[in-house]
Amino acid sequence: MSAKIISGTEVAKAIREELTAEVAELKAKHNVVPGLVTILVGEDPASQSYVAAKNKTAHALGIHSEQVTLPADTSETDLLALVDKFNKDPKINGILVQLPLPKHINETKVLYAIDPEKDVDGFHPVNVGKMVLGEQCYLPCTPHGILELLKRSGVKTSGAEVVVIGRSNIVGKPIANLMLQKREAGDATITLCHTRTRDLAAHTRRADIIIAAVGVPKMVTADMVKDGVVVIDVGVNRIGMSESGKAILAGDVDFDAVKEKASFITPVPGGVGPMTITMLMKNTVQAAKQAAGLI
Ligand SMILES: NC(=O)c1ccc[n+]([C@@H]2O[C@H](COP(=O)([O-])OP(=O)(O)OC[C@H]3O[C@@H](n4cnc5c(N)ncnc54)[C@H](OP(=O)(O)O)[C@@H]3O)[C@@H](O)[C@H]2O)c1
Repeated sequence: MSAKIISGTEVAKAIREELTAEVAELKAKHNVVPGLVTILVGEDPASQSYVAAKNKTAHALGIHSEQVTLPADTSETDLLALVDKFNKDPKINGILVQLPLPKHINETKVLYAIDPEKDVDGFHPVNVGKMVLGEQCYLPCTPHGILELLKRSGVKTSGAEVVVIGRSNIVGKPIANLMLQKREAGDATITLCHTRTRDLAAHTRRADIIIAAVGVPKMVTADMVKDGVVVIDVGVNRIGMSESGKAILAGDVDFDAVKEKASFITPVPGGVGPMTITMLMKNTVQAAKQAAGLI
């Protein structure tokens, strides 16, 4: 058996088309234009390219987007003042502070300063708390994207044994939490694994669905999975450089071998990655609708 490839590129494209239509309708019917600001501190090349991609996508969808780039030695006080300015700016519905921040700035303090109503990354404790309670909130973008991939691929999660590898606040913990809730793409039985897990393979071998968010290239090997497993590979690992100077990426899963046993699998690149920015746009549109009293 060779797995059906879940193309995040295709699913993201479909969602972006839906969002483009929704943004156009918001403008035409309600004169509402969703607004997103991205704030980048410093010159980290990876962060620069993430922020550029976010602004480009927002622009393509008809979302008003602003980008603020600050020098690496910007003080925490100045950054907090800028966040406060955008908290009060009615044109802006979503505020994204690109992480990581320089070491002299307290990331937690900055993320907590964002108005929860504009926290389109879903990192503020108010949104995290609401997510855990199953209330309406902004879901963090990568787990939100994974839910959409599962839903739109027709993967049945109710009653499934799901093994999540990785317990970060941005992927592992929230996806584990979301998939155990009584919701679409939820109702699963969850095992959350990490570096202290005694026998990782014993867990992964009985999984119906594996979500790998580890950061170790190709660590999930074919002998660790059962036939018919669904594999969502969140990992993005640079394993080399092509002759043209492009980074060669690998996921956390040994794709070529595991795809021969799996029923569904996401590739890297082109799997979870394109979904993350798309869900940021979806959250921004949701924020604009909420601010306009439309939901
Ligand atoms: N596609 C996207 O949009 C997207 C978004 C976010 C992240 N990512 C990628 O996803 C990966 C994970 O990101 P993250 O931010 O969640 O990572 P992270 O904060 O570094 O967390 C990694 C987790 O994996 C666990 N882990 C590491 N080695 C392990 C091992 N050998 N066995 C079992 N567990 C192990 C760690 O356990 P401990 O807690 O015990 O240390 C930790 O919980 C990275 O490759 C990242 O680039 C992709």
